[in-house]
Amino acid sequence: MATNRTFTMLKPDAVEKGHIGAILEKINASGFRIVAMKLTQMTTADAKEFYAIHKERPFFGELVEYMTRGPIVAAILEKENAVEDFRTLIGATNPAEAAEGTIRKLYAASIGENAVHGSDSDENAAIEGAFHFSGRDMF
Ligand code: CMP
Repeated sequence: MATNRTFTMLKPDAVEKGHIGAILEKINASGFRIVAMKLTQMTTADAKEFYAIHKERPFFGELVEYMTRGPIVAAILEKENAVEDFRTLIGATNPAEAAEGTIRKLYAASIGENAVHGSDSDENAAIEGAFHFSGRDMF
């Protein structure tokens, strides 16, 4: 299988609680190579654009407020079967349903504040990675 890439964000709740190191340790231990990474803060316009697919959902306003309230860690990760394997590593969107040992089971507080993002397809991984990084910041 070809090596491919996914995109992640360690969300404001994970950064606020001091979980950056522990989550990156799990990502590395699971065989992902870090292609690009930065600590950054999304503007309201950034969050509205990034989550445009959810704009009709009742939680959209809450989601934009949450994702802009503090810094995030954005990263592009590489591994065979990266998108699917990363979604397995992070666990279900709702931490109450996430499997034991997954990042969301360990570090997420609720379905809204769920600690970490993982792209849901190769196509979205490319779009989301390009949203945060230009080619010169990818290694
Ligand atoms: P994620 O799947 O990474 O991207 C969409 C985000 O919307 C999701 O994580 C949650 O942070 C948020 N979200 C999804 N469902 C709900 C919900 N029912 N209530 C509040 N926030 C939600």
